Amino acid sequence: MSEKRTAIVTGAAKGIGKAVVGKLLSRGHTVAGFDVDEQGLQEMVSEMSHLGVFIPARVDVSSEADIEASVQSLQEQFGPITIVVNNVGGSMGVSQAIENVTSDEWDAIIELNLKSTFLVTRQVIPLMKEAQWGRIVNMTSIAGRGRSYFGGTPYAAAKAGIIGFTRQGSRELGAHGITMNAVAPGVVMSGERIERYWHDRKSEEERQGFLRLVPLGRLGANEEIAAVVDFLCSEASSYITGAVIDANGGFWVG
Ligand SMILES: NC(=O)c1ccc[n+]([C@@H]2O[C@H](COP(=O)([O-])OP(=O)(O)OC[C@H]3O[C@@H](n4cnc5c(N)ncnc54)[C@H](O)[C@@H]3O)[C@@H](O)[C@H]2O)c1
Repeated sequence: MSEKRTAIVTGAAKGIGKAVVGKLLSRGHTVAGFDVDEQGLQEMVSEMSHLGVFIPARVDVSSEADIEASVQSLQEQFGPITIVVNNVGGSMGVSQAIENVTSDEWDAIIELNLKSTFLVTRQVIPLMKEAQWGRIVNMTSIAGRGRSYFGGTPYAAAKAGIIGFTRQGSRELGAHGITMNAVAPGVVMSGERIERYWHDRKSEEERQGFLRLVPLGRLGANEEIAAVVDFLCSEASSYITGAVIDANGGFWVG
């Protein structure tokens, strides 16, 4: 039986993050969900209660003060945080040409995806170093591996940045028993946001054209991404660090 740990999942109230929370709870870990959607977090408390201890934490990941205060209070109540899933992110609906992206849009997308990954990670590393054990999983995307199908350059740049952060971080942290890996989903029907992009913004021809490039012939499901994250958070992935695991239905094969 593997050890029970305290974990943080960011962007936990919906989609992939919510599925990751379910997986980690079912492993017996105590899981704090960081999100700005307070109602979504509260609903999860009862929804997830049969699985284990879920702690809803209203944290805006763009606020270093919010993150610091929550990490501090969690570790006081539940002990060292040794699992972190930096899942929060998105393209914030920005898909226009480079010359039409505003400086504020650029900053907001880099902040939500890339800077939040740095800010949460930097708060927990001292705790993981003390424990000499840690698992950090960062959510990149097919957008960071190749290109984005729904978002624009800020999103692709942020997700590629997460891969650089993951590689360099793994080098720094390996000696302390801490692994850092990334997961790169293809298109996942994670909820309303992706439904909108897929059904409203793409024509039937575009949808079929995309699916023809996916050997498995379909979009991904939240649980299929959560399963990879769960593995990277477990003892079973002990010799994997600095890796990017593609979960995209075989998209690279074409
Ligand atoms: N769904 C896909 O097709 C897909 C593909 C590749 C990568 N990804 C990545 O996977 C991750 C999860 O995607 P999803 O589709 O499940 O997302 P989602 O939009 O369904 O959920 C994102 C969650 O993040 C929360 N959030 C937003 N801003 C926040 C902030 N400032 N602070 C705290 N929480 C905040 C939202 O309230 C929401 O609960 C993202 O990093 C996304 O870029 C998704």
